[in-house]
Parts: sequence; C-alpha cells; structure tokens
Amino acid sequence: MSTPTVHLISHPLVQHKLTLMRQKDLSTSSFRRLLHEISMLMAYEVTRDMPTQLIEIETPLEKMQSPVIEGRKTVFVVVMRAGAGFLDGMLEVVPGARVGHVGLYRDPKTLTAVEYYFKMPNNMQERDAIVLDPMLATGNSAVAAVDRLKETQPKSIRFVSLLAAPEGLKTFHAHHPDVPVYTACIDRQLNDHGYIVPGLGDAGDRIYGTK
Ligand code: URA
Repeated sequence: MSTPTVHLISHPLVQHKLTLMRQKDLSTSSFRRLLHEISMLMAYEVTRDMPTQLIEIETPLEKMQSPVIEGRKTVFVVVMRAGAGFLDGMLEVVPGARVGHVGLYRDPKTLTAVEYYFKMPNNMQERDAIVLDPMLATGNSAVAAVDRLKETQPKSIRFVSLLAAPEGLKTFHAHHPDVPVYTACIDRQLNDHGYIVPGLGDAGDRIYGTK
C-alpha cells in the first residue's frame, strides 16, 4: 500500500496571499484575485514533476531537441462550486489542459457529499488528473470526488486544496492513500459545522459574493 503524501506549499508568496485571503473584511474581488494568483503559484508546485517530451525546434542558430510539457494529457477536475475559483490560474500555467467537473453539495445535516453533476473529457486512461477544491474540510466530498474520478481510470491523480483540516486529511488518506495532496496550510481543526478553523470561511461564498 502506498504511503500517503502531503506536499505543504510553504512558498512565502503563497503564505502571504493566504493571510490576506483569510481576513474577514476582504472584498469579493480581492479574494477572487488572490485565489487566482495563488492557484498560479500552486500550479507551479503541483506540476513540478510533470512528464515532458522532447520535440525538435530550430533556434536562430541551429536545430535542437528541447522539452515541452504534454499539456493536453492533463485534466483539471473542478469540484464545484468553489473549485472553479482555482481553475483559471491553473489554466494560465497549463493552457493545453482539459477540464472535468464534479458537482457535489454537502448535506448540511449529515455533512456527507451528494453528487449532482459529473462530466470528464474522453480518453481519461491517458490523462493525469489534478483535482481542484480549495477546502479539504471533512474530506467527504474529496473522497466522493476521487471515488468517482477513479471509475474513469486516469493515469494519475493529485488533489490540490488551499487549506486542509487534519480530520479531512486523515479521512481522505484512509480512502485514497495513493493520491498525494498539495495544500498551502493545514489548519487547527474542524468546528461543529464542518468548517475549517481558523480557516477563511465559506470559500464558495467568498469567491462569488453569495453570503
Ligand atoms: N468549505 C468551505 O468553504 N469552508 C470550510 O471551512 C469548510 C468547507
């Protein structure tokens, strides 16, 4: 069995922007812009060991073999709705990627994930999947999203969250020890409503201004 991996993205720029995002009086537009910037920086870390292939190019001086990323093989899997806020920044860094969507909502009483939408690109067996969900809280929706994604048999799966709770990481890795998690911070705990504390509140509400 594989050992669960958590990559903590401690880059000072990511940490700085996360601190700004946590503050309750930040405007919706600033929150969204910072999430966009952080997602670009996190994309850099998540794609660090992406496979490359050599292609022949011609510089002004001579021909050479030079590496390019197999961008078309990457699929960003957005866990709706907050995951959509992570997408544009990732696509700026990997513009050739495809995009899949998983629609899940949290039953407020049981905190379990209920699926309402699932659409992936074709040929998933050839693709490396990067799942985007800013908040790894209880872990229930992360587990459900990856359960469902695994049915399409992608070549590899990585999970990216901005914040994670220790409880959510434990649950996620109990179900998916083979899926590495990339996060900017592991916060203290979940509260009784399943929110991460200290956290940043409801990520979807803060991205879309729906509070
Ligand atoms: N989802 C959020 O948006 N925030 C949390 O703290 C937990 C789940």
